[in-house]
Amino acid sequence: MTSHLCDFNDLAEGEARSFTVNNTDIFAVKHDNQIYVYENFCPHLGINLEFLPNQFLDLEKRFIQCANHNALFEIDSGFCLSGPCHGKSLRKIPVEIDGQKILIRNLP
Ligand code: FES
Repeated sequence: MTSHLCDFNDLAEGEARSFTVNNTDIFAVKHDNQIYVYENFCPHLGINLEFLPNQFLDLEKRFIQCANHNALFEIDSGFCLSGPCHGKSLRKIPVEIDGQKILIRNLP
């Protein structure tokens, strides 16, 4: 099944937004004019990353930051650079851009 998250221009550079697809919490980030989508599931405790709605990035918008214990993840890979889950990664969701549409397929 294909899900249309939103349009490419709906996200500003450096903006993140959460979605729920097939009962799975995910979030999308626009960074360097690319879209990255991850499951909203911190590999430290297996809980959502954010406290405030759509707040997934650090202040400088250089990393994904878990609000619980401040783990930092690379935006383009989801790899955890520092924090209690150092060396683990967020689950990356393959994304397709079809014209303006941000699509994900077959999210289990
Ligand atoms: S739950 Fe994410 S760093 Fe602890």
